[in-house]
Amino acid sequence: MTIPTTALRGRLLSFLATPKGAGDAASYRYIPDGVVVVEDGRIARVGPAAEILPALPAGTAVDHYPDELILPGFIDAHLHFPQTQVIASYGAQLLDWLQKYTFVSEQRYGDPAYAERQAQWFLAELLANGTTTAAVYGSVHPGSAEAFFAESERLGTAMIAGKVMMDRNAPPGLLDTAQSSYDDSKRLLDRWHGKGRQRYAVTPRFAITSTEAQLEAAGALAREFPDAYVQTHIAENLKEVEAVRELFPDSRDYLDVYDRYGLLGPKTLFGHCIHLEERERARMAETGSVAVFCPTSNLFIGSGLFPMQELARRDPPVRIAAATDVGGGTSYSMLRTLGEGYKVQQLQGANLSALEAFHLVTAGNAEALGLEQEIGTITPGRCADLVVLDARATAAMAHRMEAVEADLEEELFILMTLGDDRSVKATYIQGRRMHEREGTRSRSPA
Ligand code: GUN
Ligand code: ZN
Repeated sequence: MTIPTTALRGRLLSFLATPKGAGDAASYRYIPDGVVVVEDGRIARVGPAAEILPALPAGTAVDHYPDELILPGFIDAHLHFPQTQVIASYGAQLLDWLQKYTFVSEQRYGDPAYAERQAQWFLAELLANGTTTAAVYGSVHPGSAEAFFAESERLGTAMIAGKVMMDRNAPPGLLDTAQSSYDDSKRLLDRWHGKGRQRYAVTPRFAITSTEAQLEAAGALAREFPDAYVQTHIAENLKEVEAVRELFPDSRDYLDVYDRYGLLGPKTLFGHCIHLEERERARMAETGSVAVFCPTSNLFIGSGLFPMQELARRDPPVRIAAATDVGGGTSYSMLRTLGEGYKVQQLQGANLSALEAFHLVTAGNAEALGLEQEIGTITPGRCADLVVLDARATAAMAHRMEAVEADLEEELFILMTLGDDRSVKATYIQGRRMHEREGTRSRSPA
């Protein structure tokens, strides 16, 4: 079936290269009145309206956003599907927070009907925040990943997800075994990895909740499915690092625990990486493993400050992605994530320019996930997953914008400092508008 040509018109912004810092005009392409033409869900043409519009087939539907910025959809490189009712839980750091809130809430996902309702709510919330692709942790129950993938497939979104593997140090209702986690993950891999836009991530939760036998099973899966992802947590919290040292006395450090089971590499996403030592940083860089920066989570759970400069400025650099880490993170919004990311860098005497920030959550995260041929830029051939942003979405933003004279970087910085889901005017998946914001958004939870 050929889907009719559609188009979006507005202020187009897409990155060409990693910005070297503020003012790096060579790093992006900005078209003040541009058109993106969509055919069969993919971007067919991009250019100034004056060039593209006259050549459009008669009757092409054009969604026009004269004042808004149109960017590639946001990519969230780490968050937890079963933590939508854990977000905003008071007064605990990582290990207590997991026991007190997270391990309680995640048990509900053993009920497939509940998981299904939550999957619908969760993915609708991502779209409302302009997030079109994410790397997602399920609960231990295979049904949670199943429900998530089924809903993502229905929406047509490109998602990476996996059932969490955890066989110790958690309540009985959340434990699998090395063998069952291998079997369940393999079944999900066979069923979902590479099905349409869905991809699987082998997901050992973290070293504390996996026995050596389970990490061995995770490594076996990674070897059997070399193009699947691996996602886990590392060096988020000092007590966690200490516990790993005690549980794995034969490993030289935390990263070595995963390394011994063959879990490092360019398809491995390591959440947090705050307290890594020099050897571990060097090994991350050497193996092309990705360090995922989760600022709202790191501040909220009191974990520490992500050493972005030290990781990115190494030679070779550590590959970096950015993420919300909901429900340790406090917002589904990649705009809020960038705003807090900026503050985390400020606390370390560094800056995160608006160009670097918006590159990170679009083309940068696409590269970190190895998906740059599919998403992350507004380029012919890529999927038409797009977000439409309004820098005047609130009274305070509109007021602040009155003091800006056609300065793109300033507008972007205002978006990342003051913006949230209210700034997401619309979200498109494969050229179809899947979310549109009207007035005050109100959706009841599942
Ligand atoms: N480490 C292990 N599990 C988790 C989790 O669910 N959230 C966070 N932030 N860290 C973890
Ligand atoms: Zn996490």
